[in-house]
Amino acid sequence: FGNQSLAGLRVLVSAGPTYEDIDPVRFIGNRSSGRMGFAVAEAAAQAGAEVTLVAGPVSLATPAGVMRRVDVRSAAQMHAAVIGAAVHADIYIGAAAVGDYRPLEVSAVKLKKRDGDDLTLRLGENPDILASLAAQTEHPFLVGFAAETHDVADYAQGKLRRKGLDMIAANQVGGGLGFEAADNALTLYWADGAAELARAAKPELARQLIAHVAARYRATRG
Ligand code: C5P
Repeated sequence: FGNQSLAGLRVLVSAGPTYEDIDPVRFIGNRSSGRMGFAVAEAAAQAGAEVTLVAGPVSLATPAGVMRRVDVRSAAQMHAAVIGAAVHADIYIGAAAVGDYRPLEVSAVKLKKRDGDDLTLRLGENPDILASLAAQTEHPFLVGFAAETHDVADYAQGKLRRKGLDMIAANQVGGGLGFEAADNALTLYWADGAAELARAAKPELARQLIAHVAARYRATRG
């Protein structure tokens, strides 16, 4: 395994979507299945890491070898869970599709249909979990995901710099890849390098991603 081992390291992974409640029966969500993040958590455990998994609302069993799982629903809950757990983490891999906005008012009762009238929801911006961690003086090695429909390389490299990440895993969404799909294809970028991970099943891609994370961690922090 050599420098691809994560033995002795604590890895925190976030996975799945977030749900932002509108009222007791409705929410704003997204199409993340959680499968990529769960595969990453499993691959990290297989590589010898002590893994904590923060999961949004998904119906997936905890992967073998994962030590701790924290289930959350909203972006605010995920933010709090990740910031709390990151204190004890060497590496944070943000594979969750965190909602960028939340309804500013959450109705305690079911909203009624207003026949013939439009309904306006006011949305407020959620804090960026990765960027919050990057802003801390001491923080884990940070890995982000960028799911894009177009201009993947440009957006991904922009996010790497803007969010202050150590590595970003970029994927094109659509065409049987990405959200809700069994397969994915990733391009990894770090400050002075890149790697293409060709189309494969998510568990296989997760193992390759973890090998690159371990190598970059050892090269920069080890
Ligand atoms: O900017 P964008 O949402 O496309 O970036 C995606 C990456 O940023 C993912 O790694 C995701 O987990 C992370 N993210 C975050 N907090 C947010 C939004 C996204 O950590 N509020």
